[in-house]
Amino acid sequence: MTDTTAATRPDETGINTRKVFIKTYGCQMNVYDSQRMGDALARDGYQPTEVIEDADLVLLNTCHIRERAAEKIYSELGRIKLLKAEKAEQGVEMRVAVAGCVAQAEGQEIIDRAPVVDLVIGPQTYHRLPEALARVARGDKVVETDYAVEDKFRHLPKVTAPQIRTRGVTAFLTVQEGCDKFCTFCVVPYTRGSEVSRPLTQIMGEARTLAAAGVREVTLLGQNVNGWSGQDEAGRDIGLGGLLRALAEIPGFARLRYTTSHPRDMDDDLIAAHRDLPALMPYLHLPVQSGSDRILKAMNRRHTGADYLRLLDRIRQARPDIALSGDFIVGFPGETDADFEDTMELVSEVRYASAFSFKYSARPGTPGATMDDHVDEAVKSERLQRLQTLLREHQVDFAESLVGRDIDVLVEKPGRYPHQRVGRSPFLQPVVLDAAAGEIGDIVTVRIESTLPNSLLATGGAVPAAEARHRNAVPAEPIRKIA
Ligand code: SAH
Ligand code: SF4
Ligand code: F3S
Repeated sequence: MTDTTAATRPDETGINTRKVFIKTYGCQMNVYDSQRMGDALARDGYQPTEVIEDADLVLLNTCHIRERAAEKIYSELGRIKLLKAEKAEQGVEMRVAVAGCVAQAEGQEIIDRAPVVDLVIGPQTYHRLPEALARVARGDKVVETDYAVEDKFRHLPKVTAPQIRTRGVTAFLTVQEGCDKFCTFCVVPYTRGSEVSRPLTQIMGEARTLAAAGVREVTLLGQNVNGWSGQDEAGRDIGLGGLLRALAEIPGFARLRYTTSHPRDMDDDLIAAHRDLPALMPYLHLPVQSGSDRILKAMNRRHTGADYLRLLDRIRQARPDIALSGDFIVGFPGETDADFEDTMELVSEVRYASAFSFKYSARPGTPGATMDDHVDEAVKSERLQRLQTLLREHQVDFAESLVGRDIDVLVEKPGRYPHQRVGRSPFLQPVVLDAAAGEIGDIVTVRIESTLPNSLLATGGAVPAAEARHRNAVPAEPIRKIA
């Protein structure tokens, strides 16, 4: 639907030149959603802009996971209010939309607190964005936070090759959304709704479009991605392992990844896929949150620390060179020094290649918020610092274990200097390499020479790979034998 009222400003050629500025907070799914909203708006005549001052529509795609994430939105809206007033003086009407998880969680409250906002739209209703904006153009304030009954993915415009090409050789693809796990600290089940898996044919269709547009690496997304379930072409029930096997058949895809997984949904077939599929990268983000069984129970994670370690053993048997990544929360209500030491111990045992750690943030409406024994901020800070020091040590160790080794790198983009390019290791580390080593989209084998604070450096050219170029050679020996 196209509106022709205030927000439309035809230029001299009569072509609609409305511009949208999209700012994305939070997780990769928000990045994917922002792209899809951009696609829907493009069909409605909006061009993207990186310059907020040029925008006719400002869209904030928000995250509600921690208090600070949600509060950021209100300070941004404060700045936007001033900008909107300035633009109004120049006779230009700027519209402001808030999408994402804060939109879903707070709805009308956002407009009450920040009247600059014209539209609040939740993650399940993005396909209704053009229609909602048409209502805004008629002067309404709009709040769209129903969990729509229709399949939003079927109603969003399909991704097209030119749009994909502007986004490079790696892409996200949402395969599952929502969460039924209800960890007691987490807002996601309330903001994203219950678990829904996209059907295989829809995913394969989008995947083939990505491959045809030159995408070499796809990351499957889901709040609980390994809970994906569907049916293959023969009507048999399959899980994420089956989906990965189907995707690995698509010519052009050299690398597959998926995130984020829950330990309880790592089934045998998915673990076997790590053994069987060279395209499935040896990197797994598998959050555990805490090493204390008491806290895991209070968090409703429904597994123990020992269950998690046993699971990692099985995964490592299937794929010995797998690098692990995790998420941790310190200072969950009731966490004692001893509980925290259990977390430190688990971390020492696993030796993560990378990790994310956070201070517990009480979220309105979650069971954790009303639990007793909230931990002091100072204690949380101290624990976080200790944990992050240890995690960082392991991350550096892992990076250093790659020095002198030949690893496959997907060349992704130009580097800071003309003679450089930046790619990714199989373990998701950025690799700075010589431009002569390969073109963007190539997978080249390079020798790692040294580590930089958050990346690896390979200044030599490509070295002959043990396996054919453009494949992901699996190192002959495990990169690091952990635990
Ligand atoms: N679906 C993912 C989690 C998404 S949220 C999963 O199940 O792992 C990403 C991370 O944010 C979580 O893993 C957790 O470590 C952190 N997080 C979630 N809620 C939080 C809260 N209330 N306070 C602090 N960290 C939180
Ligand atoms: Fe949140 Fe737990 Fe669901 Fe992950 S599994 S999204 S942490 S409720
Ligand atoms: Fe944040 Fe929503 Fe993602 S709360 S982490 S944007 S699912």
